[in-house]
Amino acid sequence: MIKEVFSEEETFGFAKKMAENANKGGIYCLCGDLGVGKTVFTKGFAKGLGIAEHITSPTFTIVNEYEGKMPFYHFDVYRISDIEEMYDIGFEEYIFGDGVCLIEWADLIKELIPENAVWINIEKDLEKGFDYRKIEVK
Ligand SMILES: Nc1ncnc2c1ncn2[C@@H]1O[C@H](COP(=O)(O)OP(=O)(O)O)[C@@H](O)[C@H]1O
Ligand SMILES: [Mg+2]
Repeated sequence: MIKEVFSEEETFGFAKKMAENANKGGIYCLCGDLGVGKTVFTKGFAKGLGIAEHITSPTFTIVNEYEGKMPFYHFDVYRISDIEEMYDIGFEEYIFGDGVCLIEWADLIKELIPENAVWINIEKDLEKGFDYRKIEVK
């Protein structure tokens, strides 16, 4: 499925809707270049899970945990240099747990991602405008 958006607010709203339909144990993998809108998407997603807390990027901590309608685990694995680090933070307990996982830069750890994950790729296309994004969901 492909969604084209033309503003940050639209990305936020699209992610919020997706989260409203998320189930326990859902895994959402976000891919796309730096600055494309993965964290914006995550903020909308968290809102859709009923999380009021401010979402910050867990760049140095790898994972931030929130409590909404269900537990929400926000990963940013950009700085992972070795996949072993994921085991060290207890990745398997998060990923096979009852919460919802959203992983920015999931393509860097794709061998660890279960089959049932939803993959979301965000891309720019400057010919269609500065704030245009193509969001592909698989
Ligand atoms: N359609 C859009 N969707 C998401 N972000 C957008 C959009 N248009 C412009 N932006 C801007 O792009 C930047 C995305 O930043 P961020 O979400 O932190 O990216 P990433 O997490 O992918 O590195 C923000 O400054 C945001 O305002
Ligand atoms: Mg980010």
